[in-house]
Amino acid sequence: MKAVVYNGPRDVSVTEVPDARIEDPNDIVVRVTSTNICGSDLHMYEGRTSFEPGRSLGHENMGEVVETGPGVSKVKVGDYVVLPFNIACGFCKQCERGLTNYCLTMQPEPALAGAAYGFAEMGPYAGGQAEYLRVPYGDFNALRLGEDAAARQNDYVMLADIFPTGYHATEMAGVKPGDQTVVFGAGPVGLMAAYSAVLKGAGRVWVADHHEDRLELAEQVGAIPIDTREQDPAEVVKEATLGLGADNGCECVGYQAHDPQGEEDAALTLNQLVDSVRFTGRIGVVGVFLPEDPGGKKAQNALEAKGKVPFDYGLMWFKGQAMGTGQAPVKRYNRALRDLIAGGVAEPSFLVSQELPLDRAPEAYEKFDAREPGWTKVVLHPGSASA
Ligand SMILES: NC(=O)c1ccc[n+]([C@@H]2O[C@H](COP(=O)([O-])OP(=O)(O)OC[C@H]3O[C@@H](n4cnc5c(N)ncnc54)[C@H](O)[C@@H]3O)[C@@H](O)[C@H]2O)c1
Ligand SMILES: [Zn+2]
Ligand SMILES: [Zn+2]
Repeated sequence: MKAVVYNGPRDVSVTEVPDARIEDPNDIVVRVTSTNICGSDLHMYEGRTSFEPGRSLGHENMGEVVETGPGVSKVKVGDYVVLPFNIACGFCKQCERGLTNYCLTMQPEPALAGAAYGFAEMGPYAGGQAEYLRVPYGDFNALRLGEDAAARQNDYVMLADIFPTGYHATEMAGVKPGDQTVVFGAGPVGLMAAYSAVLKGAGRVWVADHHEDRLELAEQVGAIPIDTREQDPAEVVKEATLGLGADNGCECVGYQAHDPQGEEDAALTLNQLVDSVRFTGRIGVVGVFLPEDPGGKKAQNALEAKGKVPFDYGLMWFKGQAMGTGQAPVKRYNRALRDLIAGGVAEPSFLVSQELPLDRAPEAYEKFDAREPGWTKVVLHPGSASA
């Protein structure tokens, strides 16, 4: 079968790889019909993680079940399912507590936790930017979709990662009806965080970024855009809140945060959040930060390349703020968010900018990585003919 394979920094190709197959009685095999490129893939694409050349990418996957192992009883061949990017067992100490983002069974390194498809440091699992995907513990991991699944793939595929992840940022930040919330990053994750805050009834939501096309989408869903080329987000937010700051904030950028000129500073958005959120406010950090950044020595200093971020902890402590971090536990939210989509309340597909066949993945990676205007979120359709 064909899959998107990482060959080295800024080099992916669509290559023949071994077919996905049932390896364990609880596995299912899914024919992938939609699979997204994510900002997390870009950290790997740019060589800013330990991701090994030769591995396949893709952790935002949905499709049709084509095979089930003998231990699978709920999921049936022919079902359309969306797969959380986290691969979880359902029975370990972490999964029992709902922390499928830090499953102990699926992560082979005893000292680590958490697993994902096609992801650095998250186990050996193949990615879903491929024709077929092996899904461990199919009954637990697959979320079944209704009759509108095939027709509304651009909505439902967002349940694999970015819709639950954006929602999780607002949960960690404690966003409630009426709140004033500031979101850093208008990439797909930031847009989903802003969208989730609006869905929750936030009174005012700001989104900061330096990409106009992305800020326009933020405005479309009811947020106030802050163009960081022209305005300092912390100043805008404080000025609008009698100097006090927003009730809470979401970090949706990660360790490759940079100024509009491209100068990287891993602490930039974190420090601006501490500054723009009020005393005792909460901050949800879903943007990725890593303990090692092998490709980071050129872009950042030696300490940052070791994950040591020059963070304003003193000010955060002084303000009595709280912060939540880490990978999102997709399974905690995907069923409810699916039902918001099915019920016509949520339509996360608003951010899809391109739908392409799998063969065009190399070009899509290049354009999305360059944040070219109009390349907000790419959905690949492995089954569709090359254009
Ligand atoms: N925690 C999780 O479970 C999880 C899941 C998915 C993605 N992520 C992470 O979330 C982050 C965002 O993902 P994405 O798909 O939206 O990626 P993206 O790279 O497309 O978007 C990031 C956006 O941040 C903007 N940005 C950069 N520096 C900024 C700054 N200083 N201030 C404001 N905006 C700035 C960029 O212009 C870009 O629009 C990535 O780090 C990704 O790895 C985490
Ligand atoms: Zn993702
Ligand atoms: Zn587990």
